[in-house]
Amino acid sequence: MVCLGNICRSPLAHGILEDMLDADRFEVQSAGTGAWHVGNKPDPRSIEVAAKNNIDISRQKAKQFSTYDYEIYDHIFVMDKANYRDVIKLAKTPQEIEKVSLILESIYPGDNKEVPDPYYGGENGFEEVFKMLHKACEKIVSSRAFS
Ligand code: 4NP
Repeated sequence: MVCLGNICRSPLAHGILEDMLDADRFEVQSAGTGAWHVGNKPDPRSIEVAAKNNIDISRQKAKQFSTYDYEIYDHIFVMDKANYRDVIKLAKTPQEIEKVSLILESIYPGDNKEVPDPYYGGENGFEEVFKMLHKACEKIVSSRAFS
């Protein structure tokens, strides 16, 4: 799960997907394309909205996406088009580029919809982001690749 800062959107997506999958079979991680928040916990507003939904993301630590992640992970879900561009810049092969998709394509295929960055917005933004990521993750886990 990749966003810009790895403190608002992708930590939520990470926590939600991890909560839906068997930890013995799937490894879920998140990262940011930027490095400003490396080592930091998620934004308190993300921690709070996750906690309200019984998901603990408070122990996550922000990381920066690296080309090495392409070797580890089979699927790379990005939150917006800027993340997509930044992530594919680090790909070395067409196969790596194929691993990358906008997360909302899972529920709105072909629409190129983005998860809005709630960083500068109010609490509602985080609730909305949680709901859309939850819906997207439900769809992802029901797909054949995750069965
Ligand atoms: P995120 O939100 O990409 O969802 O983690 C942001 C958090 C911090 C910044 C930008 C986006 N920032 O510029 O510090």
